[in-house]
Amino acid sequence: MKFGKLKSCRLRGQIAALEFENGEGKIELISPWIVNVFCGFETSNHHSYSIEEHRMWNTEIRAREFDGGVELCTDHLRVQVCDGFKVDVYSADGRLLCADYRGERSYEPTVNHADLILAAQEGHEVSLVDKNHKIEILKAMQGDECFYGFGDKTGSLNKRGCEYEMWNTNNPAPQMENVKSLYKSVPFFITLREDCVFGLFFDNHYKTYFDMGKENASYYYIGADDGNLDYYMFFGENMSQVLEGYCSLTGTHELPPLWALGYHQSRWSYESESRMRETAARLRMLGIPCDALYLDIDFMERFKVFTWDREKFPQPEKMIADLKKQGFKTVAILDPAVKKEEGYPVYEEGAENGYFLKDKNGEIYYNKVWAGVSAYPDFSKKSVRDWWGDREGEMLDQGLEGILMDMNEPSTFDGLMPLDVVFDNDGSPTSHKEMHNLYGNLMGKAVREGWSRASTKRPFIVTRACFAGMQKYSMSWTGDNHSIWVMLRESVAQICSMGLSGMGFTGADVGGYGSDCSGELLARWTQLGAFYPYFRNHSSRPTRFQEPWRFGEEVLDVCRKYIRLRYRLLPYLYDLFWQMERTGLPVMRPLVLEYERDPRVREISDQFMIGPSLMAAPALAKGMEYRAVYLPEGRWMDYWKETWEKGGEYVLRETPLDCCPLYVRENSIIPMYPVQNYVGETEIRELTLLITGREASYIHFQDNGEDMAYRKGEYNEYLFEYRDRVFQVSLRHGGYERVYDSYRLLVNGKEYKISRRLAEAGFACMP
Ligand code: GLC
Repeated sequence: MKFGKLKSCRLRGQIAALEFENGEGKIELISPWIVNVFCGFETSNHHSYSIEEHRMWNTEIRAREFDGGVELCTDHLRVQVCDGFKVDVYSADGRLLCADYRGERSYEPTVNHADLILAAQEGHEVSLVDKNHKIEILKAMQGDECFYGFGDKTGSLNKRGCEYEMWNTNNPAPQMENVKSLYKSVPFFITLREDCVFGLFFDNHYKTYFDMGKENASYYYIGADDGNLDYYMFFGENMSQVLEGYCSLTGTHELPPLWALGYHQSRWSYESESRMRETAARLRMLGIPCDALYLDIDFMERFKVFTWDREKFPQPEKMIADLKKQGFKTVAILDPAVKKEEGYPVYEEGAENGYFLKDKNGEIYYNKVWAGVSAYPDFSKKSVRDWWGDREGEMLDQGLEGILMDMNEPSTFDGLMPLDVVFDNDGSPTSHKEMHNLYGNLMGKAVREGWSRASTKRPFIVTRACFAGMQKYSMSWTGDNHSIWVMLRESVAQICSMGLSGMGFTGADVGGYGSDCSGELLARWTQLGAFYPYFRNHSSRPTRFQEPWRFGEEVLDVCRKYIRLRYRLLPYLYDLFWQMERTGLPVMRPLVLEYERDPRVREISDQFMIGPSLMAAPALAKGMEYRAVYLPEGRWMDYWKETWEKGGEYVLRETPLDCCPLYVRENSIIPMYPVQNYVGETEIRELTLLITGREASYIHFQDNGEDMAYRKGEYNEYLFEYRDRVFQVSLRHGGYERVYDSYRLLVNGKEYKISRRLAEAGFACMP
């Protein structure tokens, strides 16, 4: 990739076509803040599965030549393109934001090849792959960088010095911080420096590689096996604006049904109707709020997708309807692989119509998954997506209210899927090498579209595998973690990183999936999970049961307390989800997203924010009696003690088993509901508002929580204001008939109950 000297630059609208001695390139100024750098090694234009609508915002561009290059300016940026297709970006006032590295890559091989082979023989994981890639990008390290994002990765929040690969991988071993790839691939990260911040999205769905200063501290490296050189840089005033920029192109999560924010109980498996009913009864009897129960693979007849095991589930519709009466929504797992079996209609239909992936000789490609030898739907074909979506529609007709897409990396039990397996790609055949990372997205598209055809309700679709942009179709969970303390702790940075990558609706299996849980671990995990965007307790078949009641009274009480707290916080969480749909900003946020100018928060990943106003500092180690909590600037109210702490320093907080330290930011308003056993159990006519400080304002969203009517204006948007002790409500948008009748205000420790009329007129909260 030696481009040579820049020979010409032609600016047409917002696109600059560049001619170099040895090739061509392109710079697009997508908006005053967003720049795309492109060289078509594979296709002459963008070939994106993440950005489905290539948007451009009208932007005025000024160009000028200088010795060795051209400069393209927007109101906010100066983009310099130099010989060798080196691109440097400056702010309008001339600060360097990001520069291409000018030297060659250089790293010291740690040991020679023979030594690596020896180490591999002992069982060490060693990488024998070539470190050079067809597409390579080198960016100069200025020295003060922190890197955030990268989607589903373990390890610390700041990825400086780390190395990753983007190749969707199902590996049920404990996912420690040295793991390079997990189920999802999101080649997007945010660079935070002392005086600037920007995001970089490498829009390349082949296997890609990121070395963030590990091989050489002078640069960071991005590589790809194939595809185009195609990346976007998102600049802005702060991290939120950068993330919004990324989401404005790749999409945001849709507002989920309100019940999806409740507690979910799962297990591989509640393998019969009686088990499902028993679990439901137990939850209600113990007063543990819960909105969703899961059917894992055992509901199917010998793991054949779109079937029911009628011996264990003789009347599925009736079971689902009965559970619904108790407030439980039933979510079923959906794996992609289809068992090869004569007489099984799904297989026969797929085989007859050419719906499955083919090997290089044009025969159906088979591998093994749960059901044994199976074929894989080719979701890159529209007809297959339609077929699959219609089948899924039948599941929804039976009453199911959620679909959990699993094994869509795609998983194979009998060796990896060869890279030359053929995808039809709607008539332009391509290989598994190109499509691997997209398999989850294409399945997600099928399921999301099928949902709309079958139901008017908001979708609840979960995925394990995906690529950037999947947030438009599905939310996710982090896959098979383990019931070990380190994974409890890791989940915080992992979920925050997902949130910084546009995929904020996610959660880890509470209690841990593999390995045996303990009472203390479950208590701590439920405390943390109560603040995950997706709150599901799930565990694996060969492990100890881990529902809240499995470890005695004390643990049960702790779990119930936090699950109930979750239900109290539902309107606050729902507002954050509504905001996430519009902006992409996540619900669960690392401190750095709220306080990026405070250097002390940049590495903090054992505390996090829930929206702008709440901060949790969970106990993440066994036997932890106290923990240090960093309070950023301002004042903070200890939620449990109702005492005030000064920010800008660490405090030591006791963490008895029933306590997850929780702080409310000064000058906040947090809406709360009463505890319910499930969403919709009681009609909420009174809203509680927790108000701290002297001056606060808050926008609250209210609608039916179920369908798409809010998109047609059937919602209420309230503005709550508190100033000079006066509380006032104004309805900024009134499209939903059930407005609140009254408000219960909790103002700095005092309680007031007021009618809607008083609230609208302005109510003085006298001491
Ligand atoms: C996979 C999933 C897990 C599920 C299991 C059986 O391991 O990640 O959640 O329980 O398959 O379906």
